[in-house]
Amino acid sequence: MKNKHEKFEKNVGLFAIFTILAISVGGLVEITPLFFQKATNTPVDNLRPYTPLEMEGRDIYIRESCNVCHSQMIRPFRAETERYGHYSVAGEQVWEHPFLWGSKRTGPDLARVGGRYSDDWHRAHLLDPRSVVPESNMPSFKWLAENTLDGELTAKKLSTFNFLTRNRSHKDEQGNAIPLYSETDIAGAKKAVKGKTEMDALIAYLQSLGHALK
Ligand code: HEC
Repeated sequence: MKNKHEKFEKNVGLFAIFTILAISVGGLVEITPLFFQKATNTPVDNLRPYTPLEMEGRDIYIRESCNVCHSQMIRPFRAETERYGHYSVAGEQVWEHPFLWGSKRTGPDLARVGGRYSDDWHRAHLLDPRSVVPESNMPSFKWLAENTLDGELTAKKLSTFNFLTRNRSHKDEQGNAIPLYSETDIAGAKKAVKGKTEMDALIAYLQSLGHALK
């Protein structure tokens, strides 16, 4: 009886199986309820879907890997909320695919950067960060001002988001899910972005960040 645990500790196969079992139980107990809790799968009241231009800007944010240097996740600590604003809540993120929380802050958190600066400031900053923040080590993204959007895929992106969010969208009085984007939104998507620059799209996206909870 005394050294029963030796049986596990000296047998790699058995030890591996019980380790996996222990971690799985812990994981399931923590993660499973999140799929059913209202707070984690219901959009906060003021959440609105991205406009077609913001949606394109979001894809440019991903393409340029802004999320490698910037997080979008304000933690509930005083040092963070005093600097960035209200901490991030799950209800702001229910329509995000993929999440852009990030894990590294070479630059500041951007979860609530919307409205903090003017569009012109962002333009100057993205063209040449040192023109507005002399000590900045953020790279320049000046090609964004030269690339124009053709909008060929914008409608498809909106439809895809309708599909991805089908279980977490707003509901009408009968409890039916209302898609994020209507037929009209989708039909007008290409026109809404065609001819705009990637810079315009990225700035629109940045200005939308944190709109639901100021
Ligand atoms: C190599 C790391 C790095 C990358 C990549 C990067 N940034 Fe930055 N960013 C920084 C640093 C450092 C700062 C702080 C200095 C400054 O304001 O320029 C910053 C600041 C900012 C700010 C000002 C935030 C504030 O609250 O003052 C914005 C907005 C921003 N970055 C957006 C972007 C976007 C959009 C991209 C992608 C196109 C991007 N950054 C890519 C490092 C980076």
